Amino acid sequence: MTRGKFIALEGGEGAGKSTQARMLAAALERRGVTCTVTREPGGTPGAETIRRLLLGLDGEGWHPRAEALLFAAARSDHVERLILPALEAGAWVICDRFVDSSRAYQGGTAGLSDADILELHRIGSGGLLPDLTLLFEIDPAVAAKRLAARDVEGADRIGGRNATYHATVVEAFARIAGAEPGRFARIDGNGDANGVHDTVMRAVLPLQEQT
Ligand code: TYD
Repeated sequence: MTRGKFIALEGGEGAGKSTQARMLAAALERRGVTCTVTREPGGTPGAETIRRLLLGLDGEGWHPRAEALLFAAARSDHVERLILPALEAGAWVICDRFVDSSRAYQGGTAGLSDADILELHRIGSGGLLPDLTLLFEIDPAVAAKRLAARDVEGADRIGGRNATYHATVVEAFARIAGAEPGRFARIDGNGDANGVHDTVMRAVLPLQEQT
């Protein structure tokens, strides 16, 4: 059995990842590729429980280091119980956010370096990296409009952080992608969903030739 490919979708808030994940999986399935679509934090019962702890608005929230550990713990369960078994069964895994979200959102906070986040990932998930990471980049004004439409009942604990925090996250993603051009495809996410999907397919289809 040929191992499946692992594709992660990354970006700041309102970048359109979830829509693109669904469209990508549907297009690959039409080409005969079995896909597993999943998300982080979450994807397994245990990781979904940790998601509620991380993003829910109950309680006093987490210290940044505890937050980073919880994301790494959720990822560990997800990798062990869902991602690796699916890849080994030959499915392509399409994951809405993965470790680069931890690097962009938790790295650089409370004295946590990028190397610290990668070390947590090594311990928790054997350092697994996607075959391809799609980074969706959009203008802040487009993001604000999409979020106003989506988060009518209010943002979650991390989405609700201030604009300065989110601007830092977007810069961190750009820096991480710039340092690893072989693993990333940077996607202009400003257009309509179908146009963005075409760009995604151009980035993803070469992976099928590698199987
Ligand atoms: P979600 O509702 O899935 O947001 P989005 O639709 O923007 O992807 O919530 C995930 C939130 O968790 C989002 O604000 C990003 C944050 N996050 C981290 O801070 N670190 C991580 O490692 C991951 C996976 C997500």
